[in-house]
Amino acid sequence: MSRTYHIVTFGCQMNERDSETIAGMLEEMGYEYCPDFKAADVCVLNTCSVREHADKRFFGVLGQLKNPHEQDPGRIVCVCGCMMQQQVHIDTLKAKYPWVDIVFGTHNIADFPRMFRNAAEEHQKITEVWKDAGPIAEGLPAKREYPFKAFVSIMQGCNNFCTYCIVPYTRGRERSRAPEAVLAEIEGLAASGCREIMLLGQNVNSYAGVCGEDGCDRFGIAPGQKVTFPQLLRRIDCIDGIERVRFMTSHPKDLSDDLVQCFADLKHLCKQIHLPVQAGSDRVLKEMNRHYDSAHYLELIRKLRAACPEIAISTDIIVGFPGETEEDFQATVDLVEKVRYDSAFTFIYSVRKGTPAEKMPDQVPEEIKHQRFDRLLEVIHRIQEEKSAEYQDAVLPVLVEGFSKTDPNVLTGRTESNKTVDFTVRAPEGAEAGCNSAAACAEALIGQIIPVKIVKAQTFSLYGEAELQ
Ligand code: 5AD
Ligand code: SF4
Repeated sequence: MSRTYHIVTFGCQMNERDSETIAGMLEEMGYEYCPDFKAADVCVLNTCSVREHADKRFFGVLGQLKNPHEQDPGRIVCVCGCMMQQQVHIDTLKAKYPWVDIVFGTHNIADFPRMFRNAAEEHQKITEVWKDAGPIAEGLPAKREYPFKAFVSIMQGCNNFCTYCIVPYTRGRERSRAPEAVLAEIEGLAASGCREIMLLGQNVNSYAGVCGEDGCDRFGIAPGQKVTFPQLLRRIDCIDGIERVRFMTSHPKDLSDDLVQCFADLKHLCKQIHLPVQAGSDRVLKEMNRHYDSAHYLELIRKLRAACPEIAISTDIIVGFPGETEEDFQATVDLVEKVRYDSAFTFIYSVRKGTPAEKMPDQVPEEIKHQRFDRLLEVIHRIQEEKSAEYQDAVLPVLVEGFSKTDPNVLTGRTESNKTVDFTVRAPEGAEAGCNSAAACAEALIGQIIPVKIVKAQTFSLYGEAELQ
């Protein structure tokens, strides 16, 4: 009987991408995916430390495993990710969950197979966390969720030290992958049928990949040449088969005119950008160490919309940063009203140990943070509802991802602006389109980009109908 694994991933797309690598490694070692984390022979928990909520959820899930070796001495529990880059969490694990077999960090994922074999074959308990990051490892396996869309990491780490954020301490300094490695990976994905890629990095705008000694004739990159993010995008746009390119995340201080121009010029770049603003008050932005003010941010929005009028814009906003006054909060609401986001992720400020904001005076009381959060959400949702209504009756290209989890007669996919659309398909008369039932016709659409007419546009969801040709 084959041995099985399950990975529980907390946090952002970077962690999801790392989990794909770990899954790829486990499959190369002969393990098969098991949907139930409590039943799998190998359980990996990939942690996030960006907010306290994620810490708590991790300990909640870990607790559910109880003492896994009592039921099966061969089971292996691994914990990795951002939380493990902080000694305090390793100490808690050792004290309260001594049965965890392998602990590793964000910088030594490439070494996971070796650690795993030692734990599995020699029953060793292993804790290996590197303080500093080495060069980015290339050529690692990956088990991706979909064959038709993929995450491609282009850089790791962050140099920005926003005063509330733990990421620069857990993911280290910025390192960019070599451009030819990124482009070769995307070419490989395209050759295997991938249509959409999401380029990942904490701040993709400061990508600065350097080509290796051999250069890369195919993409016109000279040996040792430095490639900027817009230059990388322009080359990706020429790769046959890739129809949609997205990226996240962008820091407003590094969004260049050259990148704005890409939205006007590039055929496959989706008309969509995630541009975290974090706050609308210039005083708070300064305290956050964001290196821009609200006027600069609004000017970027103006430029983006001038280059690409249909662009969908989303953002991240933190409510209740230390010292935030009612006036500061109102400035955030005003900025939201001016920008009119298609969607926004709002977060209640969460104190992170070791960050400069932890020591700032005037922490905002929980009750006020929650009140402001609710008020902001109301504004965001009202605008979102108005913007969503603009999609009513539009026919939009949708990349079909699969059947809806709640209704097997409904397909689900994503628009260019990355909105989810649930839709039904009308099978052709007599079902002569190479498939012999409505379900088979629908199944054949998965992975394709097809036109879908939006028949019901709601605040958080779009419903549509597609007609088969
Ligand atoms: N508290 C609340 N939100 C935070 N974020 C990062 N650190 C914190 C924190 N300490 C948010 C930021 C970031 C997003 C990924 O998480 O908005 O853009
Ligand atoms: Fe954190 Fe700021 Fe870096 Fe984003 S840019 S990961 S918010 S420090």
